[in-house]
Amino acid sequence: MFYQPQLRDHGLRHDPFKALVVPRPIGWISSLDAAGRPNLAPYSFFNAMAADPPVVVFGTSLRPRETARKDSQANIEATGEFVVNLATEALKDPMNASAASLPAGSDEFVHAKLATVPSRLVKPPRVAASPVALECRHLQTVELPCDNPGRANYAVFGQVIGIHIDDGLIVDGKVDILRCRPLARLGYMDYTVVDSVFAMDRPA
Ligand SMILES: Cc1cc2nc3c(=O)[nH]c(=O)nc-3n(C[C@H](O)[C@H](O)[C@H](O)COP(=O)(O)O)c2cc1C
Repeated sequence: MFYQPQLRDHGLRHDPFKALVVPRPIGWISSLDAAGRPNLAPYSFFNAMAADPPVVVFGTSLRPRETARKDSQANIEATGEFVVNLATEALKDPMNASAASLPAGSDEFVHAKLATVPSRLVKPPRVAASPVALECRHLQTVELPCDNPGRANYAVFGQVIGIHIDDGLIVDGKVDILRCRPLARLGYMDYTVVDSVFAMDRPA
């Protein structure tokens, strides 16, 4: 089959796009609002864009009933800081709970029954149970095209300025990612887990 997203002519029950760009890592983003109240939410339009210096980006979309930017974006633009916590299989339920649409200023750490731990270089706390956290400084927000009136799409870029890795993940000087089984998003309501690894050398 072939379809053009702008024409929505896929003929399927659900838009297949998000089932095709997979698996998407989940940026589990903690931030503070201007009054210092914590916020936590998962974003699967998330990835690393560069390594030196490390830069990450996440995409946030407003639905019709949402009139304002999502709290994570608004907080990051107001304070200039955020943390990306690694969502693992063991944390799937609190990760999902933290996606609840709570009123601005509500603390998803409390809602998802998650303990916090302070960050080193930025003010937003980390998820204590997450084995990896990236402390980030906001670089810029780019407004993306949007075909739906009343909605909007943004990409929020951040530079990673501090990285926490649970010592238990380091084996022979390398991160053994299978020890923490990162969670990733597929299409529809589906998820996957990083539970196998193979290596391949680059061509000369
Ligand atoms: C696994 C998962 C991935 C999500 N990815 C995104 C995303 O990439 N972009 C987005 O706008 N919302 C995404 N959401 C929905 C947000 O998490 C949800 O709207 C949340 O309430 C936003 O919180 P905030 O307003 O505190 O930032 C995702 C939800 C889940 C459960």
